[in-house]
Amino acid sequence: MSIGTVHIKSFGCQMNKLDTELVTAALGQKGFAFTDQPQQADVVLINTCSVRRHAEERVLSLLGSLRHIKQTRPQVTVAVIGCMAQRLGSVLLDRPEVDIVCGPSQIPQITELVTEVMNEKKKIAAVTDKVRNRSGKNHDVQALEDFESVADFSHRQLPNQAYVRVMRGCNNFCSYCIVPFVRGPEICRPPKAIIEQIKNLACQGVKTVTLLGQTVNSYKYVQGDKTYCLADLLAMASDIQAIRWLKFVTSYPQRQFFDEIMQAMAELPKVCSYLHLPAQSGSDRILKAMNRHYTAGEYLQLLDTARAIVPDLAAAGDFIVGFPGETEEDFQATVQLLKKAGYKNAFIFKYSARPGTTADKGQQDNVPEREKKQRNNMLLKIQSKISGRLSSAFLGREVEVMVEGLSKKPHLNNAGNKNQPQLVGRTAGDYIVVFNGPVSLAGEFMKIKITKTFPLTLFGELAINSSLVARRS
Ligand code: 5AD
Ligand code: SF4
Repeated sequence: MSIGTVHIKSFGCQMNKLDTELVTAALGQKGFAFTDQPQQADVVLINTCSVRRHAEERVLSLLGSLRHIKQTRPQVTVAVIGCMAQRLGSVLLDRPEVDIVCGPSQIPQITELVTEVMNEKKKIAAVTDKVRNRSGKNHDVQALEDFESVADFSHRQLPNQAYVRVMRGCNNFCSYCIVPFVRGPEICRPPKAIIEQIKNLACQGVKTVTLLGQTVNSYKYVQGDKTYCLADLLAMASDIQAIRWLKFVTSYPQRQFFDEIMQAMAELPKVCSYLHLPAQSGSDRILKAMNRHYTAGEYLQLLDTARAIVPDLAAAGDFIVGFPGETEEDFQATVQLLKKAGYKNAFIFKYSARPGTTADKGQQDNVPEREKKQRNNMLLKIQSKISGRLSSAFLGREVEVMVEGLSKKPHLNNAGNKNQPQLVGRTAGDYIVVFNGPVSLAGEFMKIKITKTFPLTLFGELAINSSLVARRS
């Protein structure tokens, strides 16, 4: 019997999605049930993101609405976990609706925290004292490792697809970024633990694995006289028979290990030809101020190298517009880089000052919001044309897709059999594909013939020979 019902809301990146899966697994193992209705939950848990102010504002507004729920049902336990919990710490407990504050490194304690608060009606903050202790001593690495490796992932939304963390934290200190302050120093997981976890996932039916790290391509683990890099992990994971696709995010533009990783992508058929390589800016002056260790020219050279090794590479980028002191000239340099990079898509963000970061302590956040918005829209418009051109090359072609399930947003422009539900899937190059088909295809690999393209979405229909792919998987 369930010992309580939990509602979980997750914000932010894939790392957070994975943490949410781990927390869900731990609470499920303890005997909790889950609901998507916060009004019906005994415990409401929010996994938070601090990367931009807007992400934190959304959490604060959610907490505001939980305050109302708590007025009528004071017995509800509210837990704030993740990056914002670590950033703000026990201050969050001053809010009457918040009972638990739990940082990313304390999530192995989550079931104890929740049961303790439910039973004893008290408030608890569990966060790391000095996040930036390079030895990682302030993070109970073993507890995190144990928590991660024993997790039962049967609650995962997509049973055939899983994230696997290869490293925690970040040492890069890009001047705008809060991550190193909330997730601590870079600590790479042992290759054996990673591969064992992928084998377990494969036994549970997982076919696509995405390896996660803030700078996943700098993964490095020294064991005896062998140094393991991401390319080694990709090779070892490729040997696991049931795994069909391997992806990895997010890469930092750096030479170290780069060629080896691209070679692995070219030579290992299971490694998808997708590279997420944030550039952040095309202006060398701004890149320096951001503490990114490359110039725009070096960045483009890396992309050229990647494409020379993996000709069908699908690349994606991130950009920040309106960084303090960004002039029109700096912005134009970003426009130039965007035009040259040929991304399949780019994620564009308006600079958001993060307390405690070097950029926030330095020059003022002096690009007006209106200007940031204009620059953001301008880049989106340019990228949309590039994406449209690249996606239109798929017209009439058959692509292999891993079916994720029902499409959340019904698309009007779909072709195909309208009597069947609309499904959504992804190609190895991370293109979103929408088509009609039975829901039972979720998790399968299918061939889809593309009949219509938009910059960010391909539309198509099940190819006649599709069942062959399904059976092969
Ligand atoms: N403001 C705006 N965008 C940011 N990012 C990271 N920190 C900030 C910030 N302070 C963006 C970067 C990063 C992505 C995950 O979020 O582009 O690659
Ligand atoms: Fe933040 Fe830079 Fe680390 Fe990415 S590499 S998490 S942007 S500090």
